[in-house]
Amino acid sequence: MTKKVFLIPLLFLGLAFMGCGNHSGNNSAENQPVSNGSQDSSTMDNTPSVDVTAKSDSKGVGKFTDVKLGPLDTAMAGQGSALFQSKCIVCHKSTDEKLIGPGLKGVTQIRTPEWIMNMITDPNDMTATDPVAKALLDQYHTQMAVQVSDQEAREILEFLRENDGAH
Ligand code: HEC
Repeated sequence: MTKKVFLIPLLFLGLAFMGCGNHSGNNSAENQPVSNGSQDSSTMDNTPSVDVTAKSDSKGVGKFTDVKLGPLDTAMAGQGSALFQSKCIVCHKSTDEKLIGPGLKGVTQIRTPEWIMNMITDPNDMTATDPVAKALLDQYHTQMAVQVSDQEAREILEFLRENDGAH
């Protein structure tokens, strides 16, 4: 009955092996679940294989699933520029230079309008569920936090388009 000593770790892991306590000679079978269990948790490392600088067609996760773009609306871009200066500039430059977050030059060329609008209006949801946003968070180690209305987000998108040379 010294076998019980071997079974304590198994019991601890909540495995239902106790009923087999009287079997003998299968130490290897008893030990395996333990080592597998600890291996699983140490290899559960979700290293992103996403290249955040590559062009992505993803629309992201969120309420914006269909954003229609027309020719650049310069009045709207002007509103967006002012919003960018007040709400985004602490973390982002409109050049390609990094600050707390990525430089936003060229972002409209590598992300869809829907992805950008979803990111601006609900960054928490995006970094929790969207693979590209997750990979960005892994790289920048800061959760983007900002509060903008849907209309403001659309104006900022127009500014970002203008910043990328749209007309
Ligand atoms: C507190 C700092 C902070 C503020 C404020 C902030 N962001 Fe961010 N932003 C980040 C970080 C950091 C990331 C990278 C993702 C992450 O770590 O959450 C990011 C990512 C982004 C991305 C994705 C960039 C890419 O390369 O795909 C866009 C677009 C963006 N932000 C736009 C904005 C806009 C527009 C505003 C203002 C309305 C804003 N952000 C405000 C920190 C911020």
